[in-house]
Amino acid sequence: MITMDDIIREGHPTLRKRAEKVTFPLSDEKQKLAAQLMEFLENSQDEEIAKKYKLRAGVGLAAPQVNQSIRMTAVLVPGPEGEKPEFKHVLVNPTIISESVQKAALAEGEGCLSVDREVPGYVPRANRIKLRWYDLEGNEHIDRLKGYPAIVVQHEIDHLNGILFFDHINKDNPFEAPEGTLILE
Ligand code: NI
Repeated sequence: MITMDDIIREGHPTLRKRAEKVTFPLSDEKQKLAAQLMEFLENSQDEEIAKKYKLRAGVGLAAPQVNQSIRMTAVLVPGPEGEKPEFKHVLVNPTIISESVQKAALAEGEGCLSVDREVPGYVPRANRIKLRWYDLEGNEHIDRLKGYPAIVVQHEIDHLNGILFFDHINKDNPFEAPEGTLILE
């Protein structure tokens, strides 16, 4: 299983690389990696397991964060208590086909399993995205996402392009966002 020791942190060069596109069929190794990325997110959101293995809770984990520079990321956005997750997929070669002009940012800012410090500030992103991605069998999917899940997916796709969330924070005024940006509580 993946633990915090397997996750590389800011300063590691792999986090700044553009990751390689994945080809199908997936090798057994890549299939296994996909399962492990999702398993980490499940474990990290399980209070007991997280405590036992000292996992920080996460809603996304991209392959480059475990030093595998390929375009694959797991996303697990929980649903309301006791209900099924709002968005739970391993995305292969995800691309944003189109996005809204309307921006959104999380009121509390963002965090990252590869960043061991709080970096305060708004991270303005598109409020709505149209996403193309491939599942582990190579089937194409198109999803329209808005708000929180859209933000999570954009954060993860950034990892595939060597971008970290704080790159988007206004250096002079961290809590300044473009006019009209929705602030999500
Ligand atoms: Ni991250």
